[in-house]
Amino acid sequence: MRNFTTILIHIITIIPLVKCIDLTTRPISSIKDENDKPTPDFPFTTVIDILSSNVQFSTFLRMIQRSGNVNHLNDLQNFTLFAPVNSAFADYDKNFDISSFDINDYVIHERILHTDNLINNTMIIYTGVKYPFVVGQSWDRMTKAHFKINKIPIVEPNLIPNFQNATVHGILNTLEEPRSLSDVIITQSEILHEEMDITFHNLIGLVNKIPNSDQLSEGNTIMIPSDDSFNKQFNSVEIKYLMDSYNNLDRMQRPVREKWIEHMISLYNNLIFKGIHGGSTNHTEVLKNMNNDIVSFKSNMLGTHHNSNISDTSSLVSNEIFNWGVSHFYEDLSILNNGISFDAENYLHGLNCSGFVSEMYFRGLENMIQIQDGNDDKMTIFVPDANQNDGMGFTKSTLLYHFVNGQLWLEEDFPILSKGESYTKLLESAFCSSEKKLGNNCQRTKITKKDDGYWINGRLKVTLSKPYVIGNKLIYTFSGDLTTPSDLILSVPPFAHCSKSISFLRQLNLLELKPNYEGYTVLLPCYNSWGELSLTMELLERRPEIMEQVMKNFILDKLYYTDLEGHIPDTVNLLGDKVKLDLLDDPTDETNVKLNLNTMLDDITLKKTEDIFFNQGVLQPFQMTDLPKSVNISIKDLIEVTDSTEMINFIENFESITEKLFHHSPNKDIYSILVPTYSSLIFEDININSTKLHDFLDLHILRGNETQGLIDCSDNIITSLGQILECRKLSETESFLKIKGGSDNEVRILKKGCSTWRNSNKNQKACVFLIDRPLSLSWINGYHSHFSFPLIAIATGAVIGVILVMSLFCCVVVVKSGKDPLHRNNNHDDLEQNTTDENDPRRSLLSVDQHNVRNYASQHRMVRTPNSSISAQSHHSVNNTSQLNRIPTNHSKNASQAYSANSTSNPIDVSPPKTH
Ligand SMILES: *[C@@H]1O[C@H](CO)[C@@H](O)[C@H](O)[C@H]1NC(C)=O
Ligand SMILES: *[C@@H]1O[C@H](CO)[C@@H](O)[C@H](O)[C@H]1NC(C)=O
Ligand SMILES: *[C@@H]1O[C@H](CO)[C@@H](O)[C@H](O)[C@H]1NC(C)=O
Ligand SMILES: *[C@@H]1O[C@H](CO)[C@@H](O)[C@H](O)[C@H]1NC(C)=O
Ligand SMILES: *[C@@H]1O[C@H](CO)[C@@H](O)[C@H](O)[C@H]1NC(C)=O
Ligand SMILES: *[C@@H]1O[C@H](CO)[C@@H](O)[C@H](O)[C@H]1NC(C)=O
Ligand SMILES: *[C@@H]1O[C@H](CO)[C@@H](O)[C@H](O)[C@H]1NC(C)=O
Repeated sequence: MRNFTTILIHIITIIPLVKCIDLTTRPISSIKDENDKPTPDFPFTTVIDILSSNVQFSTFLRMIQRSGNVNHLNDLQNFTLFAPVNSAFADYDKNFDISSFDINDYVIHERILHTDNLINNTMIIYTGVKYPFVVGQSWDRMTKAHFKINKIPIVEPNLIPNFQNATVHGILNTLEEPRSLSDVIITQSEILHEEMDITFHNLIGLVNKIPNSDQLSEGNTIMIPSDDSFNKQFNSVEIKYLMDSYNNLDRMQRPVREKWIEHMISLYNNLIFKGIHGGSTNHTEVLKNMNNDIVSFKSNMLGTHHNSNISDTSSLVSNEIFNWGVSHFYEDLSILNNGISFDAENYLHGLNCSGFVSEMYFRGLENMIQIQDGNDDKMTIFVPDANQNDGMGFTKSTLLYHFVNGQLWLEEDFPILSKGESYTKLLESAFCSSEKKLGNNCQRTKITKKDDGYWINGRLKVTLSKPYVIGNKLIYTFSGDLTTPSDLILSVPPFAHCSKSISFLRQLNLLELKPNYEGYTVLLPCYNSWGELSLTMELLERRPEIMEQVMKNFILDKLYYTDLEGHIPDTVNLLGDKVKLDLLDDPTDETNVKLNLNTMLDDITLKKTEDIFFNQGVLQPFQMTDLPKSVNISIKDLIEVTDSTEMINFIENFESITEKLFHHSPNKDIYSILVPTYSSLIFEDININSTKLHDFLDLHILRGNETQGLIDCSDNIITSLGQILECRKLSETESFLKIKGGSDNEVRILKKGCSTWRNSNKNQKACVFLIDRPLSLSWINGYHSHFSFPLIAIATGAVIGVILVMSLFCCVVVVKSGKDPLHRNNNHDDLEQNTTDENDPRRSLLSVDQHNVRNYASQHRMVRTPNSSISAQSHHSVNNTSQLNRIPTNHSKNASQAYSANSTSNPIDVSPPKTH
């Protein structure tokens, strides 16, 4: 009997398989014929009987037995059981943990599934099951099965017991617990990437990043959009933000993180449709997503692909089961960005500036980068481009300084420039809270357009001239750190040559200004102003009270920026004097701004947009030509600074000259004077007893209306003696004077300084010019004829002169033959080095040593004549002999050159030694 049963079982198992093979050519509808009711000959009554009577299910049955589910199955009614055949358990060994086996994985409760219902159909069964099942018609070539459950071929369908209301389907493999949604997407992404180059990484990221995303999807239908869909509906910054591409958001403080998570959830909810939808839909269904948007949904006949009015194409893959729900994959879903909007905060995250955002929150400024109650203020935001300075700790003011009110379109708002040009705009930043220092004013920032792009405050390069636009806000990135303007001293650019003025401010303790609740404008003499007025500068250094008077005149209350137009309100300088500023309009001059101050004698010219911002206001560097009106400096003050104070005695020797130079009244001419250095006076043998002293002084005195000519180095400067001087300008700092029509000798102007005297004639100015040696009366053609010379003196002078010249000549010959030309050249270079070094402020020009005298001689072709040497010797014999002995050989060459160059006209035509 037992053997007979076994054989029968075999037959029974084989019959349907054989049938199946036959059926491949027949319509599916005819499968059921044989299997519909079991043969009455075999009294199989229960599901367990079916399983035990079919050897294919022996492993499965054993597992049911081991897990103690036999009675449970016997007691069940109205169910469908899927029974894997033995081969499904090939991998299971004896140590298989039976507790992991759950019979409910294989049972559909309250439903008797017959494959008849699956013809041309796909069903998603989600009630009465532990996990959803997708069952439907799907041809499997390997097993020749027509139907599948969860992609597993149903190899032995529709086994029906007599005494139990149930069906049993033999399936090829075990039914696995469905995987998580992200695993399902990963798998599909891989497959579809291979087949169609479509990926779903963004959604995988989203599902993984949203906390408890399973809870949202549980029991629901998810439509999965591809990465292309993301790229179509969001820009890269938005995607980077949503996807937290820089891995910043996860670590942010709670409000920031939660805002982002909400955003992601809101996006995700667009894709989640309530309930399980899929398989074959007879008619167009209407689905509602978690954001209550309505879409239509319809399948093809088989239920394997779905169309919806949120996608132009039907689903790529449908009915993918996950735990717990069903997903459909689309290339594009227009609903993806429904109701998703962004603000500047989101964009900053997308630009890897989360650190910046974090600081904004920390300082309570986050509403500046958000849309508040639908208000989106127009604003331009400059942010550091990389996040490498994460948490570098912006102060509140620094953060605000990154914002500019209004929209600045770099490409549109700046003029088109030709090569080498630049254009600067001064903008008000949102840093307006420095009440004590700047009053109600906002600290400014500069944007400069140059050949190579746009620069913030001249230092920080804007990465791209095209902004990120989000609502009414524009975002530009730049490289580097943007800090608010700092102390005055740190704000001054080193190349503006303002150091002298800064050092004056430091000496006067004016680098820190008292808070005045409206800000300061500091007019700062720069561009080497003090070098031009070096005598004045030295006077200021000696007399701090004058220095204070000058500098405090230049510090004004209130802010004046060079882009200000129209009326400028009156202000007060640091001395408490009222200052009236007038803008002198010159529409033709686009680079300069001319200001007239009632406290200044001359107008002040400022370079437009060269304003320098500092924490207490603005610095306006300018080229100072004159001192403020309230400063009182006389010619005598200036001469005293030269150390050639001997000149004062000379002047005071003559009442008329004293009156001219030292006494000043508004209706009288004023005069300038050329002052030779002290040592050169001695050298030239000018003293108080000189008979020609009056003439000598007059040769050095100019009427006030000639002063400007000398300052400008023109070539028709009339002296009080009536001689005309010619000025030759070699460079900015070097100018030379000679007597027009006189000898070729030149004197060099070393320094100048001007008194503050003025008279009714605007053209008159009284200044002091320090020259390296006196203009000699002897250089005037025909001047000597006024004098009578003792013949012996001339003869002696001539003889000694000749001897000296001869010995010098010998010297030169010896030296010349002993030197190679290269070496000479070097020495020559050394000399030139020396010349330029004379401008070095570290060197005192007042004390001209003998070495310098020789330098002047060689540079200015000044000839040391025999006669003057003798006269010098006669007065300073010890000094001069030693000096002559000390003449280095390299100078002798220059001396001889000088001599030979002028020998034709000069050596004989010399000033005579002092007559007794
Ligand atoms: C099976 O289904 C029938 C009809 O729906 C119902 O009357 C019966 O109670 C069910 N049996 C069980 C055990 O649920
Ligand atoms: C068998 O179960 C099905 C599905 O639950 C039910 O519709 C049918 O009425 C049941 N038949 C009997 C005899 O209980
Ligand atoms: C199933 O679809 C095929 C092809 O469209 C058709 O020929 C057949 O009649 C359909 N069967 C049923 C039962 O609707
Ligand atoms: C589905 O459509 C078929 C014919 O296409 C029809 O016979 C059947 O009643 C429909 N079922 C539903 C639930 O609309
Ligand atoms: C899609 O269809 C539904 C139902 O007809 C409709 O309410 C919805 O507005 C449609 N959506 C789109 C994007 O066309
Ligand atoms: C000038 O002359 C006076 C008297 O004649 C004499 O005392 C004085 O020393 C002389 N000064 C110079 C510099 O020669
Ligand atoms: C300065 O004034 C004098 C006298 O009025 C005049 O002769 C001279 O030409 C003037 N010089 C200049 C440069 O105007």
